[in-house]
Amino acid sequence: MIRLHNVSKVYPNGVVALAGVDLRIERGEFVFLVGPSGAGKTTFMNMIIRHVLPTSGQVIVNGKNVVRLKPWEVPYLRRTIGTIFQDFKLLPNKTVYDNVAFALQVIDAPGREIRKKVPAVLDLVGLADRANELPHQLSGGEQQRVSIARAIVNSPTVLLADEPTGNLDFDTSWGIMELLLKINGRGTTIIMATHNKMIVDRMKKRVIEIDKGKIVRDESEGVYGREV
Ligand SMILES: Nc1ncnc2c1ncn2[C@@H]1O[C@H](COP(=O)(O)OP(=O)(O)OP(=O)(O)O)[C@@H](O)[C@H]1O
Ligand SMILES: [Mg+2]
Repeated sequence: MIRLHNVSKVYPNGVVALAGVDLRIERGEFVFLVGPSGAGKTTFMNMIIRHVLPTSGQVIVNGKNVVRLKPWEVPYLRRTIGTIFQDFKLLPNKTVYDNVAFALQVIDAPGREIRKKVPAVLDLVGLADRANELPHQLSGGEQQRVSIARAIVNSPTVLLADEPTGNLDFDTSWGIMELLLKINGRGTTIIMATHNKMIVDRMKKRVIEIDKGKIVRDESEGVYGREV
């Protein structure tokens, strides 16, 4: 469902962020992206959602070359992809409920669909009883659960997670991983960039290591890093 053919990215300042990347990720996979800071992990994810275009090569998502999409097709691509980040990116003045509902309002979902889906997804992430609170009234782990609810409320086929546990302690992080496993178990492909060795080693999922823009390792049931 995601294919990269000989993909390179050179930013306008001359930085080579990805160089000749070939990759297949199938529907329903759980993939960790690891590698040093500046390796190209975020660039890779931004390319899948077409926030960054490749300088050369093909990026195929759900059967379509994202480079060739017509302008009106881009929002439809983005609806099939959910994103979560290290810093949650919640709207501070909106309640938990409204933060999640907003993701459906911006795509003009009907009110009855919103009233059905938002409580269901808040229940899934374990926050049904916090719906009327504001983000600052929640812990970091709870805020990340809200951002996950927002990312999946429209049933994306792919969830991109860029260091989602970067601001969380280990136990809270592990709770987030259990939630991501549950979402993955419902069929959503998950691609997660992380520097968290303990989590990667425990999860025993596919690990793709990027270094200086190149894939240097791709293992099923992999670990964070080779011993140095
Ligand atoms: N918009 C941009 N313009 C120019 N250079 C960029 C841009 N975004 C990223 N880069 C550069 O591209 C390279 C890859 O960056 P990227 O953010 O993809 O790395 P990363 O693997 O996500 O790193 P980290 O683990 O620190 O998040 C780095 O050298 C970075 O400085
Ligand atoms: Mg990054």
